[in-house]
Amino acid sequence: MALTVKPILPRFGAEVSGVDLRAPLDAAQRQEIVDTMDRWGVCVYRDTGLNDESHIAFSRIFGHLESAPSIKGRQRRFTHSELFDAGNLTPGGEILQDENLILHKKGDRLWHTDSSFMEMRSSYSLLLAYEVPSKGGETWFADTRSAYDDLPDAMKAKIAGLELEHSLWQSRRLAGFPLSEVEVDARPKARQPLVLEQKSTGRNALYVASHALDVVGMPRDEGQALIEELIAFATQPQYTFSVTWNPGDLVIWDNLTSMHRGGDFDVLNERRDMRRTTVREGAAPDHADDPFGEYFRSSMGQPG
Ligand code: OGA
Ligand code: MN
Repeated sequence: MALTVKPILPRFGAEVSGVDLRAPLDAAQRQEIVDTMDRWGVCVYRDTGLNDESHIAFSRIFGHLESAPSIKGRQRRFTHSELFDAGNLTPGGEILQDENLILHKKGDRLWHTDSSFMEMRSSYSLLLAYEVPSKGGETWFADTRSAYDDLPDAMKAKIAGLELEHSLWQSRRLAGFPLSEVEVDARPKARQPLVLEQKSTGRNALYVASHALDVVGMPRDEGQALIEELIAFATQPQYTFSVTWNPGDLVIWDNLTSMHRGGDFDVLNERRDMRRTTVREGAAPDHADDPFGEYFRSSMGQPG
């Protein structure tokens, strides 16, 4: 198979075609798809014809799929636990009007990378569009490998070996979710290196996100200023692009080499149905342990 790969930016993002993702794929095809992801960081497959089952089956070529947490008192919208809900609909299919949940989802409009607040990192996310708003609702991506490459040497030296503490509740707080700093501090955090080396290419990437609360060993103000500076650096126009969705489009991104954020749209009046599978870094396909449920129970909160 030869995939057709059209770069979006010279170093980052590609529109990929030439394969039917619904069909069984042989080892060589799977390898080419994974290699193309590792090379470009974000791959856009248009008009895939995927549904819930084939989306999940295809996603498994990347490894173990995480399970979305079940939240007490809240009905699941999807029967498959592998599907995370990135849309704005209720389980009954109506447009969500719950203010807290809307605010919670607003956190995804800030630059982030999925699940950096968990000790076990997520590698790839695969987001499939079912219904899209007539205006807005695009998704933005930022190239954290090229951003790292282009950092001044003094900054590379300054951040070498640093670690960040991440919390989902930091990004929710930044988005306006009613939580105090003390409440964020009391909830679980995950410590992650600020620079990750990508095994397949040997390139370094900034592992930053709006979930990042502290730089380990720095006063909070100083740490947050550094986190903001790095996010601002990595999201300059030369590192970013947006994807405008149509139903059936699938975008795969590598959470370890990119950030993303959702674009604004009229959440109270326009429908957006987007479903995501997420791959656990380094875990075998049949890996059983899924700590999301525990994380959300211990946070007494809602899913991200
Ligand atoms: C996600 C996410 C943004 C969007 O699914 O992880 O951040 O535009 N989505 O839906
Ligand atoms: Mn996300």
